[in-house]
Amino acid sequence: MAMADGKGKLERYNSYIRKMNSSKALAASSKLLFRASILIALFLVFFLTLTSYPTEVRRRLSSTSSFGAASARWGGPLWEKQVRHSSTPRRPNGFSVLVTGAAGFVGSHSSLALKKRGDGVLGLDNFNDYYDPSLKRARQALLAKQSIFIVDGDINNAYLLAKLFDVVPFSHVLHLAAQAGVRYALQNPSSYVHSNVAGLVSLFEASRQASPQPAIVWASSSSVYGLNEKAPFSEVDRTDRPASLYAATKKSGEAIAHAYNHIYGLSLTALRFFTVYGPWGRPDMAYFSFTKDILQGKAITIFERADGQDVARDFTYIDDIVRGCIGALDTAQRSTGSGGRKRGPAQLRVYNLGNTSPVTVKGLVGILEGLLGLTAKKNVVRMPGNGDVPFTHANVSSSVRDFGYRPTTDLATGLRKFVKWYVNYYGIKITKGDAASSSSSSRYSS
Ligand SMILES: NC(=O)c1ccc[n+]([C@@H]2O[C@H](COP(=O)([O-])OP(=O)(O)OC[C@H]3O[C@@H](n4cnc5c(N)ncnc54)[C@H](O)[C@@H]3O)[C@@H](O)[C@H]2O)c1
Repeated sequence: MAMADGKGKLERYNSYIRKMNSSKALAASSKLLFRASILIALFLVFFLTLTSYPTEVRRRLSSTSSFGAASARWGGPLWEKQVRHSSTPRRPNGFSVLVTGAAGFVGSHSSLALKKRGDGVLGLDNFNDYYDPSLKRARQALLAKQSIFIVDGDINNAYLLAKLFDVVPFSHVLHLAAQAGVRYALQNPSSYVHSNVAGLVSLFEASRQASPQPAIVWASSSSVYGLNEKAPFSEVDRTDRPASLYAATKKSGEAIAHAYNHIYGLSLTALRFFTVYGPWGRPDMAYFSFTKDILQGKAITIFERADGQDVARDFTYIDDIVRGCIGALDTAQRSTGSGGRKRGPAQLRVYNLGNTSPVTVKGLVGILEGLLGLTAKKNVVRMPGNGDVPFTHANVSSSVRDFGYRPTTDLATGLRKFVKWYVNYYGIKITKGDAASSSSSSRYSS
């Protein structure tokens, strides 16, 4: 009995130990499970929060920047005061315009022109380094003298856009911020998608949610005509054969604009600019880099078409483009949506803004040679298939009809103004004379 009792006790004890062990294991494993769940939940919260942030916020959190764009600093009472002050019109029934890309070439000129006639102007620009940002800062300083404030930020920053529309009831947006240039797409294709597609959607989203919804005038491009051969280019011509990623993103923009107009009642006007040039222009463009290289005695590369014919462009002077932008803003009807919803059909327009008289690139170089008093060292090569089109020529009858657009500056006059600005800005002295007989390096100093 004692033996049986002892055995029974032992068995009971062993089974007790087993139970204890298994419940300990259970407790340990459920503790482990609990901790793991917390860790997974924390990870998920962090991941979802991060991925639902707008691009700009993610960009700042990850501290990687697209081509070294300055990180935006915005917000606070002083900042809001500057934003309001800059956006307030000084004429009766004046506009309150948000100009994106205001530190850029067309943006800076347009901002000054709007301000001059009494409209309120607020700039927005990310000051990226696609070309020398010091030129953008110099334009910013020029605008600041006229009390135009440029917010340093990216159009992909949904928080910033929402804040701007919250602080100011913009009547209009002149949207010029974009990744410009055709050949740079071979090096940095995503910059085109970032600014010209994602950025455009971000701006349209903020605009359709704004109250009131602004009317939007934005820069498309003559490049949308792509491989179109019918000249002059009319707005009804084919634009479904882009020759570059830049052109494809601008064409996508026009399709996106159609959708936002259709769904949300946004009033949208696309302007197809034709090769804009002039003072404070873009250093990546041929007329600008040719001027620099001719002055430095460097050879310039001129493209010719596969059939040996000259490449030609409908070069359009900046003041004509600015008048076109203002004409489009003045005739833009109100958006019809409110509370993010469409209340009726809204205006949807596309216009060419060109000069209507193409000049060959060799002709452009000839004018520059005359103005600089130097002969260019020319390297003529067959145009590579990297996105450039051989010929552009605008038919502007729609913009003439609808807002009296009339380009008035020919290429020689416009380039004279550009060269005057260029030598003054870069502190270059030109001594005119027999260009062919002197070395270019002895002909200027900076
Ligand atoms: N200049 C031309 O010949 C020409 C021809 C056709 C179309 N366009 C279009 O006209 C507009 C203005 O061109 P531009 O010649 O003044 O170019 P620009 O490069 O001088 O100006 C564009 C400005 O936008 C800014 N920007 C770019 N991406 C941005 C972003 N994600 N967020 C905030 N700012 C951003 C840049 O910093 C720059 O200052 C562009 O949309 C361009 O595609 C220009």
